[in-house]
Amino acid sequence: MIAASQRPAAPHPLLPPRLRERHALALNVHTARGERVCSRDGRELWLREIVPGDIAALQRGFRRLSPEDIRRRFLHAMSELPEPMAQRLCRIDPARETALVLVDESVRPTEIRGVGRIYVDESADSAEFSVVVEHDWSRVGLGALLMQRLVDDCRRRGLAELWGYVLLENRPMLQLCRELGFARRLMPGDPGTAQITLRL
Ligand SMILES: CC(C)(COP(=O)(O)OP(=O)(O)OC[C@H]1O[C@@H](n2cnc3c(N)ncnc32)[C@H](O)[C@@H]1OP(=O)(O)O)[C@@H](O)C(=O)NCCC(=O)NCCS
Repeated sequence: MIAASQRPAAPHPLLPPRLRERHALALNVHTARGERVCSRDGRELWLREIVPGDIAALQRGFRRLSPEDIRRRFLHAMSELPEPMAQRLCRIDPARETALVLVDESVRPTEIRGVGRIYVDESADSAEFSVVVEHDWSRVGLGALLMQRLVDDCRRRGLAELWGYVLLENRPMLQLCRELGFARRLMPGDPGTAQITLRL
């Protein structure tokens, strides 16, 4: 039972109706741990910005990804997340980047179950996104929630466009982007990849 002070925030008005009903709920509870999130199957996570102390958790999370998920996220195969790269991914420049993590505090050490990030290109008035959700936590609305928060962040920054590269075999992401209103453009010279764009 959710206490009155912890009732779900109203669904985001810009979410398409189907996702509005079914995406993970960001509960209206903000603490030092972040914003409380309830997955569609009732599991609790905390949504917050990434911090330098997340390096080890990010590397453990990478090890739980399948080779397919890694290729879909990074667009090439990678066997490990090297320490310098993990450091770079956790120490962001807030003027040009946003990186949101979904933290599972039901385990020790706490684990990161999903990451969404944008890199801003001020000269193009746009940002490039990436998102990943751990397999055991997929299909419970977390990818949609992360994407919606990235869209919100881009709007807050006053950007004109959010875009990303998605492999054409990546049906889950293409479907998610379609539902969020992104348009798809094939890449000349790279028949396996699409550029997915949302005008903001
Ligand atoms: C793509 C990804 C982020 C989706 O995350 P998720 O948390 O499972 O997505 P959600 O639960 O929020 O799903 C939202 C909608 O996306 C679509 N979707 C998600 N997974 C799907 C699947 N396996 N098949 C078809 N549609 C799917 C559905 O429309 C879904 O709504 P529904 O569950 O109500 O039908 C996740 O599968 C992932 O991390 N993949 C590997 C990395 C990657 O591909 N990143 C994208 C490129 S940067």
